[in-house]
Amino acid sequence: MHRLAWLGLAAALWGQPFAGVPHSEYRSRRDALRESLKSGMLILFGNTEREHGELRSGFSQEPNFFYLTGWEEPGAILVMSPGEEALFVPRRDAERERWTGPKAAPEDPNIREVTGFDRVFATEEFEARLPELIRNASRIYTLTEAPAAGRLKALLPLRELTDIAAPLARLRMKKSPAELELIRRATAVTLEAHRAAWRRLAAGLFEYQLAATAAGVYFEAGCRRHAYAPIVASGPNALTLHYNANRRRIEPGELVLMDLGGECASYAADITRTVPAGGKFGERQRELYEIVLGAQRAVIAAVKPGMTLARSGPNSLHQIAVDYFNQHAKGPGGEPLGKYFTHGIGHHVGLEVHDAAEAARPLEPGMVITVEPGLYIPEEGIGIRIEDMVLVTEDGAEVLSAALPKEPAEVERALSKGG
Ligand code: GLY
Ligand code: MN
Ligand code: MN
Repeated sequence: MHRLAWLGLAAALWGQPFAGVPHSEYRSRRDALRESLKSGMLILFGNTEREHGELRSGFSQEPNFFYLTGWEEPGAILVMSPGEEALFVPRRDAERERWTGPKAAPEDPNIREVTGFDRVFATEEFEARLPELIRNASRIYTLTEAPAAGRLKALLPLRELTDIAAPLARLRMKKSPAELELIRRATAVTLEAHRAAWRRLAAGLFEYQLAATAAGVYFEAGCRRHAYAPIVASGPNALTLHYNANRRRIEPGELVLMDLGGECASYAADITRTVPAGGKFGERQRELYEIVLGAQRAVIAAVKPGMTLARSGPNSLHQIAVDYFNQHAKGPGGEPLGKYFTHGIGHHVGLEVHDAAEAARPLEPGMVITVEPGLYIPEEGIGIRIEDMVLVTEDGAEVLSAALPKEPAEVERALSKGG
């Protein structure tokens, strides 16, 4: 969709509940995964209320389970073979429902309609049905690293479990049009969160006040969770890559690194800007900032199918950033700056902020990554990161978060106008 058309749509949808992805798309994701199953059987456990403390953070579904089913209620199990599939959901439990509300149950007359599955059984019957289910399965696939795999191992001590993580990650890495629309929306909302924090920015405030302002925007827009704990890092706190205590008072003349993202309709955004608390970059701050920005531009210009997020190798985006740092600037002792870039160039984003990915798989159209070079120089007490969300296209890249200023003059202008 054209960007302006999309911004218009985002404005019209502001504050409206997020529409979900249709059942048919979840079914086609399962069909795609089937091709990896051959004559095997996939057994995947959803999260349970018991293990996923609904009191503190609210229940959230296991992302792979959600990707394949769209099912957001606890205690479900997916069973899938090349020829058939079934969803197990817990029977109605009035006592649980008294605490966490009504749930769908296998005995409901409309259960097929609400789940999108033709066969729905009770989770309580899973163990009894298991021997029959796996009788003809040459292999049993599951997420072998997930905590729930222990449950399956205990039930099937003589069967070897094969990991489905890589085929699932391969599917999750390429976003569908429906997913891209949700990611664009999470991104648009998160840009507004940044702008709101910029409007409020001033020396003397505590970091948590900016975090609260930003998070208030994405929660107000209907996003249900932080995609990650908000990072508002003033001055030397920006040297800590995932600083999220957000407790310090912002001093005049400091830079403030804000790495913020809402999780909206299950999709994450992940966007960073580093801006001057007083509205104007100091000389050295600006010098270093422009180097980080230059590195980011060099990397974004190189994003296209075939490139990788690996740390090295001929198509490494990371290496482009390191080379840029080494060639364009000097550290406090006159040494090349590359050593102050102390993390990876980016990661996939989707249902999780650090989304499922098959390591070192080259980029393909439809993948969404971050491009986030940074410099962290303890000797100077300065940390700078600039992070955008980038969609890989047929022949290059589209920066999904391009609407948030990052040229120093534009940042200063936006700050002087109050975001
Ligand atoms: N906000 C976490 C990250 O950038 O990876
Ligand atoms: Mn990131
Ligand atoms: Mn980030």
